[in-house]
Amino acid sequence: MTVINIEKNGNVGLIKIDYPPVNAAGFKVRSGLMQAVSELDQDRDIAAIALYAAGRTFVAGADIREFGKPSQPPVLPDVINTIENLEKPVIACIHGTALGGGLEIALGCHYRVIIESGKVGLPEVTLGILPGAGGTQRTPRLIGIEAALEMIVYGSPVSSKRALELGLVDKVSREQDPRQVALEFAKEIIASGAKVRRTCDIADKLVKNPENISAISQYRDKLVGSSKHLFSPHKCVEAIEACLELPFEQGLKKERALFLECMESPQRQGLIHAFFAQRKAAKIPESSIAHPRDIENVCVIGGGTMGAGITASLLFGGLTVTMIERDQDCADRGKANVNRILKGAVERGKLDQANYAEILAHRFSTAADYHPASSADLAIEAVFENLELKQKVFAALDKEMPPGAIMATNTSYLDINQIAAATDRPADVIGLHFFSPAHIMKLLEIVVPDTTSPDVTATAFALAKRLGKVAVRAGICDGFIGNRIMAAYRKAADYMVEDGASPYQVDTVLREFGFAMGPYQTADLAGLDIGWANRKRLAPSRPPEERYVNIADQICELGWLGRKTGRGYYRYEEDPKGLPDPEIEQLISDARSAKGIHARRFDNDEIVSRYLAAMINEASKVVEEGIALRPLDVDITLLFGYGFPRWRGGPMKFADMQGVDSILKQIEQYRLEDGYFWKPADLLIELSAHQSSFEQLNNSD
Ligand code: CAA
Ligand code: NAI
Repeated sequence: MTVINIEKNGNVGLIKIDYPPVNAAGFKVRSGLMQAVSELDQDRDIAAIALYAAGRTFVAGADIREFGKPSQPPVLPDVINTIENLEKPVIACIHGTALGGGLEIALGCHYRVIIESGKVGLPEVTLGILPGAGGTQRTPRLIGIEAALEMIVYGSPVSSKRALELGLVDKVSREQDPRQVALEFAKEIIASGAKVRRTCDIADKLVKNPENISAISQYRDKLVGSSKHLFSPHKCVEAIEACLELPFEQGLKKERALFLECMESPQRQGLIHAFFAQRKAAKIPESSIAHPRDIENVCVIGGGTMGAGITASLLFGGLTVTMIERDQDCADRGKANVNRILKGAVERGKLDQANYAEILAHRFSTAADYHPASSADLAIEAVFENLELKQKVFAALDKEMPPGAIMATNTSYLDINQIAAATDRPADVIGLHFFSPAHIMKLLEIVVPDTTSPDVTATAFALAKRLGKVAVRAGICDGFIGNRIMAAYRKAADYMVEDGASPYQVDTVLREFGFAMGPYQTADLAGLDIGWANRKRLAPSRPPEERYVNIADQICELGWLGRKTGRGYYRYEEDPKGLPDPEIEQLISDARSAKGIHARRFDNDEIVSRYLAAMINEASKVVEEGIALRPLDVDITLLFGYGFPRWRGGPMKFADMQGVDSILKQIEQYRLEDGYFWKPADLLIELSAHQSSFEQLNNSD
């Protein structure tokens, strides 16, 4: 297959980029483009050159797989400068997405047309870098400093309509065929006598006036609040500022230097790991052997916190939902819960009034019996976390649902094999573990019992995609991937608190590390009764050698269940964000005294080390037992469900970057004080012995 194809059509030289899946600007594209433009430039019969791409999209950016490897010339900035400096008009026809280096190629062309459904963007910041092929210098020249800051610092793509309004493109076409649109636009340009129009020559929007200076400083201030941990957004601002200070050539040099700084940063490694891990998590053994079943009608059993969120998520995904509750009052309450979410979406502009009306009129209903299940393709159960109750619900569903229907549970911890056993068709039973709030949180753990048929698993992954969720395949154990690992790091935090740290210090330090919230804020938000019920459930099987901290139980016994009761680890009466509570500090101090523990000081680094070591150790056990398919599945679970900072790539990536060996050494040291909790995972020992890494395991399939 030829990556770059030349076609001469009259006096138009067409260049087709054909490099599946997304026409990324890898070496073959760059070198092929360089050759093609110089060939057409020398061809006297050619009056204009038109670039377009085959397949689903224009160029989706630089080839990310090449990052971190020595670059092979020609580099993209040189290719783009060459195109811009040609003496014949060059046009770009964008379809699908022109992202990053893809948009930068288009900006180096002299004219741009976009097919209506297309989008353009400079998402480099989401990968820990900045547009490094002229994007930070050409974009402000075309659309001004403020609009360029918005596009580059946040990285969100814009629609074809917006691209036209901004002045990023010259024309939006309703035609669908990129070759045809490219050809016609090139003919138009020739017929109009339009000349070469270089973006680098535009200067009128780059005046160093108060508006532009203030836009730069406003973005700087915003970033201090919202992205203080992140490296590349600050570098984006610096690069854009260079447009006001330096001529184009020098601006490009400055951009290159800042780009290379970003490429060297550990955040780039973490973010790019997250990018590929997210895509790889969707690759499961079942995809190659099974076909998803059709899902349109869904029953959700239970209309509480999760049932309502799951229902909303399904409705947003275009499905038809009946919510089944235990009686009419509960059904009405469930309906009100869903309606509140839908109305919130309308208020936030996420759902328009017409769709809202359509959902209520045609796609959402409630019931207080199981009859609607007889025509459902899928049921998702979200009743109280109680095995017998769930088994009863599944037996009822089994009676009612048609052959081929799928029965799913949203249980957080329970053994889904036992739930499946309550039916006569365990092959159709699976876990769909949504996270709260289910219509917002991206993670969906797809928990696969031993008996589940591969097409049921494939259906669950297809559904996740339709709902815009990030799905991770998990096996059966207490808490599956995420909650099991959380139980371990939460214990490590509780041990530190009982030994002398304050919950407020722990939360602050972990937020500083980059977590969205600390463990005690998270517990208050979820409701302390959730953990309490779980500890009671596990009490009979708790081994005597396990250290048990009863501080949380004591807080629950006071009726302080977190935010919803106004008190938990924090007090919420005066400040909805929560204030430290001296009474909690006293309770903790008394709990220490009762056990004869003398509080010791924890420095911040030790808190991070213990918390992360506990997380990585349990995660290693989860991988070694096959509960997670690969280390990357753990990373995605923690990134999308537990607030782990994306720029650190996830706990397993973090371990690789620290060195597995050094994590193991820490664990061995902690083991001296608690041999039960700090028993190292065999996998960690093995990786350390072979000087291997989690990344090697990710790539071993
Ligand atoms: N480089 C290499 N591979 C890429 C890629 C890229 N820029 N973008 C996507 N891919 C790969 C994906 O890894 C995936 O590979 P597998 O099939 O092996 O898993 C495949 O292309 C399809 O990707 P998606 O599953 O994401 O497909 P989609 O249709 O859902 O989305 C997309 C398509 C919107 C283009 C999305 O892939 C995307 O957002 N890509 C990244 C775009 C980006 O960030 N570009 C900037 C790159 S950095 C840059 O350009 C620097 C610079 O300034 C020079
Ligand atoms: P909830 O208490 O808010 O709602 C449960 C609902 O189930 C109630 O509305 C109740 O009326 C209904 N119900 C009880 N018995 C029923 C029956 N026989 N038939 C129909 N409906 C019945 O509970 P929540 O928080 O929504 O949790 C539900 C499930 O989701 C549990 O298994 C829980 O472990 C799990 N989960 C909860 C998360 C959370 O953060 N709340 C997160 C992920 C999973």
